[in-house]
Amino acid sequence: MASAPAKQIEPAVLPERIPRHVAIIMDGNGRWANARGLPRAEGHRRGVEVVRRAVRYAGERGIRYLTLFSFSSENWSRPQSEIQDLLNLLRLFIRRDLSELKANNVRIHVIGARTGLPGDIRELIEAAERETAANTGLVLQVAFNYGARDEIVRAARRLAEKAARGEVKAEEIGADLFQSCLDTAGTPDPDLVIRTSGEKRISNFLLWQAAYAEFVFMPVLWPDFDDAHFDAALREFAGRERRFGGIRSE
Ligand code: IPE
Ligand code: IPE
Ligand code: MG
Repeated sequence: MASAPAKQIEPAVLPERIPRHVAIIMDGNGRWANARGLPRAEGHRRGVEVVRRAVRYAGERGIRYLTLFSFSSENWSRPQSEIQDLLNLLRLFIRRDLSELKANNVRIHVIGARTGLPGDIRELIEAAERETAANTGLVLQVAFNYGARDEIVRAARRLAEKAARGEVKAEEIGADLFQSCLDTAGTPDPDLVIRTSGEKRISNFLLWQAAYAEFVFMPVLWPDFDDAHFDAALREFAGRERRFGGIRSE
């Protein structure tokens, strides 16, 4: 009898090919639940479990920044009950996971509009940022009530206000100053953007910051996303040639 083929062991991605910043559009929770005859809320709940695993994996792999798109400024158009489920999951995540994240040296940063969020959520977000501000490990950037157009408009407004107060002149406004007014100020641009669920669109995520990101679209639904999928995305990234408008370096 022929012996079974040796198990394929994928080569590990070299440390220098590990992206510094990975951003993920965590999509497909609803479809995952529908396919099982479960309420959409169950898909979201499972999605949070996958977030925990992805955060751990990113830390282990030496990724420095992980941005997770968890609620968009357009997601308010969903049914009230689903919005409440998503807000409750954020509450639960911060209450339950903050101590472990703190212990693991994770720094939390939340991007997105704060106005329009319930007061207790704003307080939880502020506490999570404050209590992890001195941590030096993985930066976990959570995009909540986030929309890139909204972020860009708020930055433009901030600059216009500075100009009106005479603090900045129009000719001083360039990409660096503009960037410093975005929610992501101080965070390097994402190198790799992963979207799960098979959709191939950006859905108003990091429009400015992802200008030169590599994109990996994966058919897996977010609740099924595991370390092997994350690994596959990193391998795909490691094989890409980034040029930033230049020419191939020989
Ligand atoms: C992603 O899953 C989570 C959020 C957008 C909040 P979806 O809820 O969008 O799941 P699908 O795309 O309907 O399957
Ligand atoms: C993007 O997913 C937002 C999040 C993952 C939080 P959506 O499910 O809202 O995007 P569309 O509506 O399919 O473009
Ligand atoms: Mg979706």
